[in-house]
Amino acid sequence: MTTYNVALNFEDGVTRVIQCDEDEKVTDAAFRQKINLPMDCRDGVCGTCKCFAEKGEYELEFYMDESMSDEEAEEGYVLTCQMTPESDCVLRVPASSAVCKTAPEAVEAEVLGVDNLSETSFGLRVKLAKPIGFLPGQYVNVTVPGTGKHRSYSFSSAPGAVEATFLIRNLPGGVMSSYLGEQAKAGDSVTLTGPMGAFYLRPIERAQLWLAGGTGLAPFLSMLEQVAEQGSDQAITLYYAVTRAADLVELERLKTVATKVGNVTVITILAAEDDAHERKGFVTDHVTVEDLNDGDCDVYLCGPPPMVDAVRDHFGKVGVEPANFYFEKFNPTEVEEEAT
Ligand code: FES
Repeated sequence: MTTYNVALNFEDGVTRVIQCDEDEKVTDAAFRQKINLPMDCRDGVCGTCKCFAEKGEYELEFYMDESMSDEEAEEGYVLTCQMTPESDCVLRVPASSAVCKTAPEAVEAEVLGVDNLSETSFGLRVKLAKPIGFLPGQYVNVTVPGTGKHRSYSFSSAPGAVEATFLIRNLPGGVMSSYLGEQAKAGDSVTLTGPMGAFYLRPIERAQLWLAGGTGLAPFLSMLEQVAEQGSDQAITLYYAVTRAADLVELERLKTVATKVGNVTVITILAAEDDAHERKGFVTDHVTVEDLNDGDCDVYLCGPPPMVDAVRDHFGKVGVEPANFYFEKFNPTEVEEEAT
């Protein structure tokens, strides 16, 4: 019996990944795992269970015109009471996690170590009590030991492993920075709650333009790890922008995983004028019309809010709108995500 992972993305940004057997309907698998997906007739008649499949192969047993049109089915809509997966799938559920009687999962983890990657960033490595099913690009809330507080960070590692890594900006005086810089030791316990967020890698069907600002590199490392595993023949261009050369981190790891993927170009940019580097300024000074591939590209951006605004303006200035623009704005103490 083959079992597939089905990621359920609820409209409040919470994601739960369920296991669905090859001959099992998605609503039944969800119910078995204590998630009540919207459902009424269970017969393909009412349309209450309609979701959108962003990714994956599947079989739909039966549906009536009243519940879902052929056009909708072609676009990717599915009736989960009639759907059996034939691969791992990602579904957008038009209801909140609370309505579906579920919530982000809390998983205990043990700190394995903290790496001082640069003056401005830490690497945190943890061992999870069990692997967390997430989509590369998503984040979790991580508790800060001894404070009763948590902070949100994107995984920089691939989904499905018991060891997870994060890239964390060093903010002097910040609760997590103080913990990581002064108190953290191997064996400490933290709790990870999630995954969450609409910033995650969609199926790669066109050229990819990825823009990382500072520790906004983290989700792209995770995405590259997944592409390395699954393969893609589309070109990926990653611009990685920081302030000073000393802020560039994880370059070796980036190079290794980019080589594994193939067809990946990594371009670094420094904002500080006094640094000796061939590219200075902001990403908008360097992203070319060719990078935008006449609009036939997906743009992903993870960085501070002004970077998102500048890149959006840049599309207008050069007169090329990408097919999709997904972004995650992060502020020092929080993560905000949106997608257009
Ligand atoms: Fe009625 Fe699925 S529950 S169509």
